[in-house]
Amino acid sequence: MNPKDVLADLERRAELGGGAERQKRQHDAGKLTARERIELLFDPGTFEEVDKLVTHRCRDFGMAEQLVPGDGVVAGHGLVDGRQVFAFAQDFTVFGGSLSETNAAKIVKIMDLAMKLGAPVVGLNDSGGARIQEGVLSLGGYADIFLRNTLASGVIPQISAIMGPCAGGAVYSPAITDFTIMVKNTSYMFVTGPDVIRTVTHEDVSKEDLGGAMTHNETSGVAHFAVDDDRECVALIREMLSFMPSNNLDDPPRAATSDSADREDDRLDRVVPASPNQPYDMLDVIQLVVDEGYFLEVHRHYAKNLVVGFARLDGRPIGVVANQPAVLAGTLDINASVKGARFVRFCDAFNIPLVTFEDVPGFLPGTVQEYGGIIRHGAKLLFAFAEATVPKVTIITRKAYGGAYCVMSSKHIRTDFNYAWPTAELAVMGPEGAVNILYKRELDAAADAAAVRGEKVAEFRAKFANPYIAAGRGFIDEVIQPRETRRKLITALKNLDSKRDKNPPKKHGNIPL
Ligand code: HXC
Repeated sequence: MNPKDVLADLERRAELGGGAERQKRQHDAGKLTARERIELLFDPGTFEEVDKLVTHRCRDFGMAEQLVPGDGVVAGHGLVDGRQVFAFAQDFTVFGGSLSETNAAKIVKIMDLAMKLGAPVVGLNDSGGARIQEGVLSLGGYADIFLRNTLASGVIPQISAIMGPCAGGAVYSPAITDFTIMVKNTSYMFVTGPDVIRTVTHEDVSKEDLGGAMTHNETSGVAHFAVDDDRECVALIREMLSFMPSNNLDDPPRAATSDSADREDDRLDRVVPASPNQPYDMLDVIQLVVDEGYFLEVHRHYAKNLVVGFARLDGRPIGVVANQPAVLAGTLDINASVKGARFVRFCDAFNIPLVTFEDVPGFLPGTVQEYGGIIRHGAKLLFAFAEATVPKVTIITRKAYGGAYCVMSSKHIRTDFNYAWPTAELAVMGPEGAVNILYKRELDAAADAAAVRGEKVAEFRAKFANPYIAAGRGFIDEVIQPRETRRKLITALKNLDSKRDKNPPKKHGNIPL
């Protein structure tokens, strides 16, 4: 063969992967191939592949005869909305997408390049795990990737999509990255699968129940998004990247918006119900305030008592953290604290301002929470907000009680602008709880305890259940009308464009893990 034909043949074999039959099986399973996924991820015609002709070095178990150029992973870089992004897509049609020494080296190569150039890395995972024929060489390859995931954390955004199997130690690469998306019905993640579990613990569980998309979105919190199919998955990755800077030294990209910065919405004046114990949906508040009402919710199915996600204000990306009074009355529990802390830290690492909407009656009481370590986990959220140096703005819509007042981006932990609606109540606890403690003896002795309680609650409410004591101290910068919230936030964030703040020099803090 002449040299041109040799190259053409190698390229054709690389593109064929594991062959037409295996590609058909991939499609029949409802999945796209690695190359189809990559094509969808990047702006048309911008993908540059690296190491397309790399093959494995294994000579055992008949592997010497089975050489597929590319060795089961498509890796390279291209543009997403005009910005450079690196990506790898595991090719399940080649040895089940399993990770060999050379396959890992390809992934490591693009991760190192992405770090040098300051560009995000996207991993499209679809693999049977460590390549069995290669033994410890494959395990070493995983560890090489885990190291890069760790060193890149907080330097470049890392997004993992699980689009097929992801089992054993392989799960730890996605786990270290910033966000994990799972495709419903075709993806699963677990450290040990159903067979091993049956042998060791005698539990009977299906792959889907153990590690399917909804299990990890609703129950474990391992995944942040669940999508219906591969196309939706890749579209979501592109959407997520639009909120993120390329690296920790860049600012997130500003988008054009037709939504006026001065827009007031009087529906906000009616969101908080007259009765303090009546729930309302904080998502309504967020959507009425942000550009075009568009909110990309993260971890939507997990710990719904706290809402986190991305939005824009006058085109500037923001990270929203909000108590959700419609779920568990908006209390903070273990899962919500961990969810919030991780999101706050992502935003802080990548220069995304934090906007907090607060309506929190406190931490969730109970033995489950205390035994589970709500002290340690709640501290994560406090630590994350306190160490964050990005612009921080808080709006208290209603309750800001107890320790949760301090935690939810209060003035005391370096929040730049703290606003309260007239309906805000800042107190050590709710009026009923406070009266039961402060007037215990009077209530025990009273002939009509209910009447005394009612009177004392009204008295307490009149004195403490408002924003004015806090405003009088400067803990609240301004009491604003709900309808003004968008304008106030946009002005605050514009003023904070030049914010410079830093933490004391240290190797790293010791967040209570
Ligand atoms: C080499 C593998 C492979 C692997 C699959 N294949 N997994 N080859 N190493 N780990 C090959 C199969 O031989 C088959 O080749 C092709 O990929 C497709 O696999 P099938 O079994 O036919 O597909 P399916 O029925 O869809 O099942 C997929 C699967 C199953 C559930 C992933 O293949 C499986 O259980 N594989 C082993 C998974 C595993 O135990 N991996 C190690 C995990 S521990 P042909 O030629 O027939 O197409 C691990 C440690 C990481 O990864 C450690 C990090 C620290």
